[in-house]
Amino acid sequence: MDNLDPVREKITELTDRLTRYSYAYYQEDTSLVSDYEFDRLLKELEDLENRYPQFRLPYSPTQRVGGEPVRNFKTVYHTVPMLSLGNTYSREEVAEFDARLRKLTDQDFDYVCELKYDGLSISLSYKDGILVRALTRGDGVKGDDVTGNVKTIRSVPLRLARGGNYPDSFEIRGEVLMPRASFEELNRQREEIGETPFANTRNAASGSLKLQDPAQVARRRLDCFLYFLIGDSIEEKRHEKRLELASSWGFKTGRYHKRCAGLREVFEYMDYWEKERENLPFDIDGIVIKVNDTSLWPRLGTTAKSPRWAIAYKFKAKRALTRLNEITFQVGRTGAVTPVANLDPVSLGGTVVKRASLHNADIIKKMDVRIGDYVYVEKGGEVIPKITGVELSRREAGSRPFDFIGKCPECGTALVRKDGEAGHYCPNEENCPPQIKGKLEHFISRKAMDIDSLGEGKTEILYEKGLVRDVADFYDLRYARLLDLSNGVVSFKDKTVENILNGIARSKSRPFERVLYALGIRYVGEATAKVLARHFRDMPALMAASFDELREVEEVGDAIAGSIVEFFSRPQERRIVERLAAAGLRMEYEEMKSETLPLQDTVWVVSGTFSRSREEMKRLVEYFGGKMQSSLSGKTSHLLAGDRMGPEKLKKAQKLDIPLVSEAEFYTMIGGEPSASLFDGQADMPGRQQVPAAPALPVQGDLFDGE
Ligand code: IVH
Repeated sequence: MDNLDPVREKITELTDRLTRYSYAYYQEDTSLVSDYEFDRLLKELEDLENRYPQFRLPYSPTQRVGGEPVRNFKTVYHTVPMLSLGNTYSREEVAEFDARLRKLTDQDFDYVCELKYDGLSISLSYKDGILVRALTRGDGVKGDDVTGNVKTIRSVPLRLARGGNYPDSFEIRGEVLMPRASFEELNRQREEIGETPFANTRNAASGSLKLQDPAQVARRRLDCFLYFLIGDSIEEKRHEKRLELASSWGFKTGRYHKRCAGLREVFEYMDYWEKERENLPFDIDGIVIKVNDTSLWPRLGTTAKSPRWAIAYKFKAKRALTRLNEITFQVGRTGAVTPVANLDPVSLGGTVVKRASLHNADIIKKMDVRIGDYVYVEKGGEVIPKITGVELSRREAGSRPFDFIGKCPECGTALVRKDGEAGHYCPNEENCPPQIKGKLEHFISRKAMDIDSLGEGKTEILYEKGLVRDVADFYDLRYARLLDLSNGVVSFKDKTVENILNGIARSKSRPFERVLYALGIRYVGEATAKVLARHFRDMPALMAASFDELREVEEVGDAIAGSIVEFFSRPQERRIVERLAAAGLRMEYEEMKSETLPLQDTVWVVSGTFSRSREEMKRLVEYFGGKMQSSLSGKTSHLLAGDRMGPEKLKKAQKLDIPLVSEAEFYTMIGGEPSASLFDGQADMPGRQQVPAAPALPVQGDLFDGE
């Protein structure tokens, strides 16, 4: 039997090291290592875990990228029911809340005010410092076990710092939310592939946490704030201190809470955040006021649904009343038809609103919105203002219910509604003008074929003039025809024409996956295009793939597979692809060559003695993309530590939390030890003065293929 102890030790060491790095990064906003180094260590750990799954630790950071998908979430009872909060929109009621509590208690007390995060609540259980379970609120009594998904949230510690004074077993509750930046990126991607964007960050967070595939959740970039520590064994009784305690164990509690002595300070906090909320990187929908002394909590008790020792003050959504003049319809690139309310301009939360989304036919029907009605427009957590109701008292006599259109407003084709979807589509993909224009614009966009010499304006002209009707037409454009356009209303100058043609010619060298993405197949975004390209290798193979073959590809679900099959079943699309191939576009996948150097973005100090001279070690650092520094500072990312390093350096490195890298580890990082001859060999060469030329460096691996 092999002795596997070293493997087990290596796995433990890597796991702990990565845990430390993540903690610093996500809780303390400091980077101890470069992204490159982090990813490299993670990959190393992943490989080892795959080979020796028996040694994988339950808190392994590899789970951050997503474990096994689940079919259905297990329902689990909460040890302590998850209550909700009584809430109010009025300051008077907050004052009543305070007066009620003062009457119920015979001692003075203070409050802790917190933000009311706009997400969904979660309960985390830890045993011996390891996250063992994450449950959603569900109905308050039992919730869904979403542990695998929650493990992908970087700010949730999978294991608490060793030696922390946390109980062996405890629960902590908080809110999972989606930061605005992640939300905008997610919606951008969804629109790109023709999916309906999420209305607000809360829906996006809750939709994400309910996905069955943790790998997909990992990409959603959720965050989690904790605000409620449960456990009788916790001696600390002040809520404020409990938050600090939780933070010291590694939880993200946010720095927004404040102890407030009385009502006046509570109101100050309320007013401050009502204005300041715009500047937070995430959405809040109010603030929460809690009695600080938790020993008063049981005495104050709970009502059926919520505790008496806390209340939520919710910010009023900004709302305005205005007249609905008209409902128009927008047709997108994928044929999706969106109703848009055209309003009498009204000012709302600092901007003038003229248009608002009406989502779909069902919502219009449910609200019974009619032309000429006075409607309420709200700007809450939503990106686009929405209509939330009708002021019936101002309805004009003789108004009639609104009939949703049956035909495409652009091309007159009868609209269709797909099973299970609320939206209407125009099926005339091949001839409906906004769909064609949308496809052309998508094709030339930066992430697709990146033909920046064209742009939306010029594309529109080419379309209107009949020069470009499908994406393959771009490659048939000729100098004379383009210059001819000068005779009309528009005038393309020599230089412009040359630019356009050069841009188009250059686009022929875009890799296959970009060509595939550029085709604009519904549901095939950038990432999916890459996966498909890598899997099928070339266009003919992809075009020939059956639904089942497509489904076998990781990340390809029914919707994507169906959409691809449907796309390539259309003779017109097949013809376009053939013409693109004939024009010289890439239809075969080529393995990406690594372009980054292994030490890119790292900053080094070299100290002590090595098997080579220190100068050589420094040159190696620089050669492989690292930066050299003469002494340790906050910028240093690694200390290359040889023998006989001074104790002062060591102390300083520890203080700054800079990882020490041994000579052997260093060689691993650069993909192997350079052969001795390179530095010491040829006696007649002054080799030490010069950085060796790249191709001559005999490193292992393919790190230099991109050079
Ligand atoms: S305390 C027993 N604190 O608001 C009381 N809740 O409307 C536990 N929420 O279900 C809740 N931020 O999902 C608390 N700082 C905060 C909160 C917060 C958001 C949510 C939570 C709760 C809901 C109640």
